[in-house]
Amino acid sequence: MKGIDPYSSLWSSQRSFAANGLILGGFSIIASVALVVLYGFYNAFLHPLRRYPGPLLWRSFRFPYVIAIHSGKIHRQLKDFHDQYGPIIRIAPNELSYADATAWKDIYHNRPGHQQLERNRTWFRKVTPDEPHSLLGWNEEAHARQRRAFANSFSDKSLRDQAPIVESYVDLFINQLKTSPSGQQLKTRTIELSQWFVYLMFDISSDLSFGEPFGSLAARNPHPWVEIAEDFGKGLSLIASVSLYSPLDKLLRHVIPKHIRQRQLDHRNMSAAFAKKRLALDIDRPDWVGPAKKYSEKKDVLSEGEWAINMTIFIFAGAETTSSALTGILRHLLQSPGAMERATSELRSTFESSSDIKVATTGKLPYLNAVVNEGLRVAPPSVIGVPRIVPKGGEVICGQWVSEGTYVAYNQYSSNRQEHNFHLPNTFLPERFLDPTTEDKLQSSLPFGTGRHTCLGMKLAYAELRLTLARLLFEFDIKLADEKDRWDWGEQNTYILWEKRPLEVILSQHTE
Ligand code: HEM
Repeated sequence: MKGIDPYSSLWSSQRSFAANGLILGGFSIIASVALVVLYGFYNAFLHPLRRYPGPLLWRSFRFPYVIAIHSGKIHRQLKDFHDQYGPIIRIAPNELSYADATAWKDIYHNRPGHQQLERNRTWFRKVTPDEPHSLLGWNEEAHARQRRAFANSFSDKSLRDQAPIVESYVDLFINQLKTSPSGQQLKTRTIELSQWFVYLMFDISSDLSFGEPFGSLAARNPHPWVEIAEDFGKGLSLIASVSLYSPLDKLLRHVIPKHIRQRQLDHRNMSAAFAKKRLALDIDRPDWVGPAKKYSEKKDVLSEGEWAINMTIFIFAGAETTSSALTGILRHLLQSPGAMERATSELRSTFESSSDIKVATTGKLPYLNAVVNEGLRVAPPSVIGVPRIVPKGGEVICGQWVSEGTYVAYNQYSSNRQEHNFHLPNTFLPERFLDPTTEDKLQSSLPFGTGRHTCLGMKLAYAELRLTLARLLFEFDIKLADEKDRWDWGEQNTYILWEKRPLEVILSQHTE
């Protein structure tokens, strides 16, 4: 009788264990692949949004969108998809992008007989659980209460009262451009202007928020608050895309580098300290605090945390957007000599001296206004729309049914560059805003949004853009430092905000 070889039986049981393991492993891989394929198939062909056109991979999975956000190319991809598939497209299993002017009203306005579309919570996460809701948050109740208070600081009267503050910083900006750090007058100089627009706008915003400027213009250097804020866009896109994978976001959040989270917290603490200092000042100042504080003391009280978070938002929302707009508008003027010539002669024939150029006197210059509007069209600071979410039961948008839970957004860059909205959509043509017979859909370009969340700082922003451009064009002859440095604004990357390339120019003080 043959004895049993214990080694061979152990070996064979190990082999069958390994084989089982392999089979099991293989099975799990096949099952996972099958699940992913089924998930994609369901999204593309069975999902309630299946009738909306769009690229197959994007309709099936969310990851192409996330990759595009991180590569900085999302705005160009959305534009290309709108070119190819039309004004309403599906860009993720649960997201639609609109480039049709009707969508502005349907998504962002209060419509009688319809539910409100809230801001999508994915994009408006709190940094810490104790953070209060803000004006930019998704909570409509908190938003309405805070907006009532802050509307007082952005009224026409407040803007008139704030005008001398804005004018004083534009004065300082122009003087710094005319002089060297040692105070020597410079008839001609080569300078990178986009950083200077950042200094100017953050100084104005910090003064109107905290009662004191960051001092970047005087120091000719960015303040640490501004340096940190410059990373905001990348931080926001990282957090938003991680949050798109709920409930995995609880784990994925840890992939956000610790130093980014720390910088965010440091920034918040710095802002809270500044806000506390301003609120403690018992003075009547025509800034973003004074009128809202008066109202808040009488009516709806804002908490200390709400003040701090909104002050931070004001500075950032007020400065990043306007400095981006100035860079975009000036670049297009410099690349369009005819428009530059027309804008400059309008200013030099209207004003005798630079001291006549004020917030109040720059409001009614037709060509300058057209330049600003066209600049905001080709280079919209709010590149991709802040998505809203379709409420329970679904909604009709642009005459078509959209199922509940869908993210919907009007994407400005891609819409502004569509031929169905504008002829020669990629060309900077201020004249289109002056032509009463134009067939362009001018009302589709709404750089400041619309509805109950429309930009609170719109009038101030227009005033700042007009005044700064008017002073620059009146006082300097400006040209590109390198005549070959010409390109379309959309070639830059975006991380929620534009990653702006330098604007190197030669400034020569204008003499009659
Ligand atoms: C060219 C400059 C600017 C552009 C293009 C711009 C654009 C926008 C857009 C598109 C929105 C709407 C966001 C949404 O619908 O969810 C918005 C909201 C907002 N903007 Fe501006 N903005 C600019 C300047 C300013 C300035 C100077 C301030 C001053 C503090 C400001 C403060 C705000 C605030 C507080 C909100 C939130 C309003 C709310 O939800 O009720 N913005 N902005």
